[in-house]
Amino acid sequence: MKKPTIVIGSDHAGFGLKEYLRELLEELDYPVEDLGTDSRDSVDYPDYAEKVGRAVAGSRNRKGILSCGTGVGISIAANKIPGVRAALVQDPRTARLAVEHNNANILVLPGRPFSRKKIAPIVKAWLESEFAGGRHGRRVGKITRLEKKYRP
Ligand code: RB5
Repeated sequence: MKKPTIVIGSDHAGFGLKEYLRELLEELDYPVEDLGTDSRDSVDYPDYAEKVGRAVAGSRNRKGILSCGTGVGISIAANKIPGVRAALVQDPRTARLAVEHNNANILVLPGRPFSRKKIAPIVKAWLESEFAGGRHGRRVGKITRLEKKYRP
């Protein structure tokens, strides 16, 4: 099966992690699109959540990885975009379950602090997992209906 393109983005606090992600994803042979930021200069995380969220929402062969300092702000912002299911995870187990149970199409990682040793197994677990469907499909369907129900 064709590997998905991984769209990455971060604010300044996630910049170091994002730079490492590009290396890691290229090593793993995934096509990568880097939507910034491009330096450690201060920027606003919702702007990068929007860029990556728009690229991923509704696309079959794109997934995203986002980072800010804690991962919290950029998750909240990305999850405002219909079709985005962004999951801030702590370890390989939550990364795997975020896909199997929640069909998470964006992985979110805290950029401060981060350890290369810890990040690689989390990213691999997320990339290699598949949505389990069944009762989880019903629940994710209800999330999609919430988007429609509360659309302004
Ligand atoms: C930026 O200083 C910081 O607030 C941001 O990276 C993030 O942690 C927000 O949730």
